[in-house]
Amino acid sequence: FIFAAAMQRELLFKVLVIGDLGVGKTSIIKRYVHQIYSQHYRTTIGVDFALKVLQWDKDTVIRLQLWDIAGQERYGNMTRVYYREAVGALVVFDVTRASTFDAVMKWKDDLDQKVTLNHGVPVPAVLLANKSDQAPCQQPRLDSFCRENGFVGWFETSAKENTNIEEGARCLVEHILSHE
Ligand code: GTP
Ligand code: MG
Repeated sequence: FIFAAAMQRELLFKVLVIGDLGVGKTSIIKRYVHQIYSQHYRTTIGVDFALKVLQWDKDTVIRLQLWDIAGQERYGNMTRVYYREAVGALVVFDVTRASTFDAVMKWKDDLDQKVTLNHGVPVPAVLLANKSDQAPCQQPRLDSFCRENGFVGWFETSAKENTNIEEGARCLVEHILSHE
C-alpha cells in the first residue's frame, strides 16, 4: 500500500472561475469543495481561493486550485495578475439574467488576451449555465455557441440543487490533462 502511494503522481492545476456579479461562482465552488450552499449573497472582493483534491485515477491525484474571481473585477485592472499561470477556466452565467450571458464573451476575450498555454494555445474553458433550478436555460444553440467561441463544453448547473457541477469540473480537467 505504501509503495502504491509512492507511485502516485500529483498534479496541481490553477483553475479560474469567472463571470458577472452574482451568477453563482462562489456558490458553485462552495458546493463543489465543501458540499454547502447558502442563499445569502455576499459579494466576493478581489479573489478567493479554494482547493479541491481529486483522486483522478489510481495513479493520479489532482489538486485543483480554484480562483474565485469577483464579478466586479471585470472593470478592474487585476485580472492579468489573477489569470497568470492558469490552465483552465469555468465561465459562469445566470440563466435568469440575459445580461450575464452577454458578458460571457467579454470574460472569455479578457481571458484569452491575458493568458494562454504554451505556444499560444487558449486555456480550456467550460461554460456553466447556472441557477438552472430557477428556469430552463433560454439560450438556444449552446453547442454551436461553444464551438464558435472556443469553449470545450457547457453544462446547466445548479449550486442550490447540486446539479452538474462535478460533471462540468470533470470535463474541464479532462481537457486540461489532454494538454499535459
Ligand atoms: P460575486 O462574488 O459578486 O461576483 O458573485 P458570485 O458569482 O460569487 O455569486 P454568489 O455565489 O455569491 O451567488 C449570488 C446569489 O445567487 C446568492 O444569493 C446565491 O445563493 C444565489 N445562487 C447561486 N447559485 C445558485 C443556484 O444554482 N440557484 C439559485 N436559485 N440561486 C443561486
Ligand atoms: Mg463570489
